[in-house]
Amino acid sequence: MKSYILITGASSGIGYQMAEQLAAKKFNLILVARSGDVLKRMKVELSSIYGVDVQFITMDLSVPENAKKLFDIVKSQSLLVTHLVNNAGFGDYGSFLETSMENEVDMINLNVSSLVILTKLFAQDMALRKSGRIMNVASILSFLPFPYYSVYSATKTFVIAFSETLAAELEDTGVVVTTLCPGTVETPFHTDGMRKTNAMSTNKPMPAKDVAAAGVNLLLHGKGKKVVGFNNWFISNLPRITPSSIMMTIKKNLASQRKS
Ligand SMILES: NC(=O)c1ccc[n+]([C@@H]2O[C@H](COP(=O)([O-])OP(=O)(O)OC[C@H]3O[C@@H](n4cnc5c(N)ncnc54)[C@H](OP(=O)(O)O)[C@@H]3O)[C@@H](O)[C@H]2O)c1
Repeated sequence: MKSYILITGASSGIGYQMAEQLAAKKFNLILVARSGDVLKRMKVELSSIYGVDVQFITMDLSVPENAKKLFDIVKSQSLLVTHLVNNAGFGDYGSFLETSMENEVDMINLNVSSLVILTKLFAQDMALRKSGRIMNVASILSFLPFPYYSVYSATKTFVIAFSETLAAELEDTGVVVTTLCPGTVETPFHTDGMRKTNAMSTNKPMPAKDVAAAGVNLLLHGKGKKVVGFNNWFISNLPRITPSSIMMTIKKNLASQRKS
């Protein structure tokens, strides 16, 4: 049976770059996202350039039932998933009183519910084999939830809490759970509103390639969590030494939009 790395959100940004870097390292891949046309093109390109087997499954993971469907498809095709990357996710920016409730429910479903369902199903399989690695993509906002990103920050705080506790639980099972925590990354993730914030101008986005390289290393060899980049590591630790009321004022300022 061939073994595979399954990456959700592989059609763009960090996931796309991780797919390419893992193919270059000769890993077979299962790519998942909604954009089937992009995934199909990636399958052709990555398999011809790197000589690896690339499968793709088009799936909307903001519908939690589809996470189970995805697992069932993988099992029915007898694809052995040795590594799972829960990377698919999106955010929104704006006043909670005005942002779309439907969008927020989709966000919670994708960033949290589907991530938990996929982690459970694949972790159970991996534990039976006493081997496997799961990497969940959180964010620097997992450590410092930002105003105007209230629901998104909360989903990523969930991801870090879930992943770190699960890593401890599964310590003796052969299943390693890690968490990648990027700061801002140059990808289509950012809405126009996000791009106008003070945070985006003071902490310049990192190239997706560099963040993906850190992710690939963590997925294949790492333990625990990885905050990508020294600046981001420093910022993520600020709440430890700063009173929370001051911290919230700083965060509100960073998350506000530039005047000019
Ligand atoms: N960019 C940043 O600054 C940043 C910072 C910290 C953390 N992150 C996290 O990093 C991860 C990757 O984000 P990115 O920056 O690479 O963003 P991106 O370029 O927008 O990529 C998001 C990926 O998720 C997929 N996706 C979105 N909605 C989906 C759905 N309903 N079902 C299945 N797949 C879906 C997208 O594919 P389709 O549209 O084809 O479905 C795409 O492949 C996310 O979890 C994000 O929260 C990003």
